[in-house]
Amino acid sequence: MTATDLMLQQLGGRDSAPIELDQPVAIEQLPTPALVLDRKLMLSNMEKMAAHLDAHGKGFRPHSKTHKCPTIAKLQMRLGAVGICAAKVSEAAVMLAGGVNAILITSPVATVSKARVLNRMLEQHPEHQLWLVVDSVSGLQVLQQSIGADQRLGLLVDIDLTMGRTGTREVDTMLQLVDQIGDDQRFYFAGIQHYAGHLMHIAEYSKRRDKSLASWSRLEAFFQALEQRGMDCPIVTGGGTGTYDVDVAVERITDLQVGSYIFMDEEYRALASAGDDRFEDFDLALTVACSTISQPNAKTITVDGGYKAFASDSVNPVCDELPGVEFRFAGDEHGVLLLGDGQQEVQLGQVHRFATPHCDPTVNLHDYYWILEPDGLVHSCWPISGRGCSW
Ligand SMILES: Cc1ncc(COP(=O)(O)O)c(C=O)c1O
Repeated sequence: MTATDLMLQQLGGRDSAPIELDQPVAIEQLPTPALVLDRKLMLSNMEKMAAHLDAHGKGFRPHSKTHKCPTIAKLQMRLGAVGICAAKVSEAAVMLAGGVNAILITSPVATVSKARVLNRMLEQHPEHQLWLVVDSVSGLQVLQQSIGADQRLGLLVDIDLTMGRTGTREVDTMLQLVDQIGDDQRFYFAGIQHYAGHLMHIAEYSKRRDKSLASWSRLEAFFQALEQRGMDCPIVTGGGTGTYDVDVAVERITDLQVGSYIFMDEEYRALASAGDDRFEDFDLALTVACSTISQPNAKTITVDGGYKAFASDSVNPVCDELPGVEFRFAGDEHGVLLLGDGQQEVQLGQVHRFATPHCDPTVNLHDYYWILEPDGLVHSCWPISGRGCSW
């Protein structure tokens, strides 16, 4: 078996169907640390975003890198998404296997091995629509070497201005790509992606807004060059949760790739929004439930969640139920709560829920969402079948 077949077989075999529990359980009965998803809050976040984008005449192309869960992606499609984004080929493979039928892969492919996986995915799912970003002539050549003669793949040129991650900064490179795409019947030019991720977490709202609008306006040179060639640009996609209410003002944009809004996390909540010094336009739907398991002294209490339960690339987890109690990481399996005066109600054997510091990589640490329903009980769990899909 080739490595490609093995990889795809393994991902295709991942079960993504929700699992109903025989008996609903209280959060206190979950095996902590447990990733708890409040389904109603998540749905209301989804509906709010879908309605907002619709009201501004923009498409909704949510990013599945946040949730990694085909069940959630299909809910987003049902709410009118024009497609789902996947960060990588493997994430797209899981979404395809889970029944999502319109996927944009937002990272370029530049190796033959990865392009062959993509070709196999196109062969296996001829009825589905796949798009991929491309940002270099050599990346396009790799696709030309690997994609079968009968396939048809939509390509978007990824444009970078100041982020320095993926995307070309050169108008000439974009035009060269567009020309070569047009000369090859396996491909068609589907549009442009511009994602300014480094702006999403600027704390001050007006600064975030101005920088995002400035970034999009600098793209005009690219659009004008396309117009001079007489080229249509059907898709113009980008943006994220941090600029969801800013980028809708950009006429050129056709759809937004919002991801984190669905769950929210502490990193986002700590920013200012248009009308507040906290970004709480969307509700906190995702938490990690942890148990207090040890109390080495009166001023601290230890919970059973550390680096293996929470991403640690940004702020620390926060417990809304325990204002003033600070969480400090205490290794892979533990966190320590620093108790202030009058917080002695935190005792051993309790379960508390913490806002995730950064939702996407936190989700990647867990196998399931435990689905919390309005009766306060967990009724089901949804597999995070895109977990670990970083290739
Ligand atoms: C290319 C791309 N688009 C969209 C998003 C979604 O961003 P957010 O989670 O801030 O909404 C990301 C997140 O990293 C991304 O990498």
